[in-house]
Amino acid sequence: MRIRMSKLARYPLAIAAGLLVQLTSTSVMAGEYYTIKDGELQRPTGYREWVYVGTPLTPNELNDGKAAFPEFHNVYIDPESWAHWKKTGEFRDGTILMKELISVGTKTAVSGKGYFMGEFVGLEATIKSKQHFRDEPGNWAYYSFSSKDHKTLSETAKPFPAAACNACHAGAAKDDFVFTQFYPVLSAGKGAGEKASGGFDADLMNHYVEPQAKK
Ligand code: HEC
Repeated sequence: MRIRMSKLARYPLAIAAGLLVQLTSTSVMAGEYYTIKDGELQRPTGYREWVYVGTPLTPNELNDGKAAFPEFHNVYIDPESWAHWKKTGEFRDGTILMKELISVGTKTAVSGKGYFMGEFVGLEATIKSKQHFRDEPGNWAYYSFSSKDHKTLSETAKPFPAAACNACHAGAAKDDFVFTQFYPVLSAGKGAGEKASGGFDADLMNHYVEPQAKK
């Protein structure tokens, strides 16, 4: 009886060991939240469950009716790069940021006049990778999956030439080509450790970048 028991007991052990191997290998795999195949980025999925960092908007009304980017931009960072950012204040090699474009919808609500999000109209991405973009400034590359009519998304995307996208990012973005000054979650969370996740400070402004109006 004793022998039998110990034989049986081996099975769960073996299963546990197998699981451990699987867990370790998936956590290694989880290092990258994107797939680049034959030089094209496969459209990432699941990013609305990553860490949301902010929503810039440059509406037509404030830009003579011709804003270059008139939609809301919901920006997300992959969870591992977020963990690295809150620990070190830097973007790790392998960072991906997704920017989802949302049209301006209604301009009135029961709360007053304003800008309210309408529909999803596009998707862009930027990735920092030495392996893939050794010669790009800061090792960042830029992608768009949006169709011209903003009604569909492509399955894959080729990186833009650096000059098409990077010039603005190089000159005006606060941290390593990323516009962290417009993403309060990132600017407040930079190197802030556990406080980056919110709720720890009574002083809301504690970690925010200096508002531009003050300069
Ligand atoms: C005219 C300057 C300018 C150009 C050109 C430009 N961007 Fe940006 N980009 C910005 C600004 C400003 C932000 C942040 C505010 C916003 O989203 O409106 C931004 C934010 C982003 C973000 C979110 C992450 C981040 O780095 O802040 C992505 C992704 C992005 N742009 C992709 C692109 C792609 C793809 C192109 C080329 C097709 C491009 N950008 C060209 C100014 C520019």
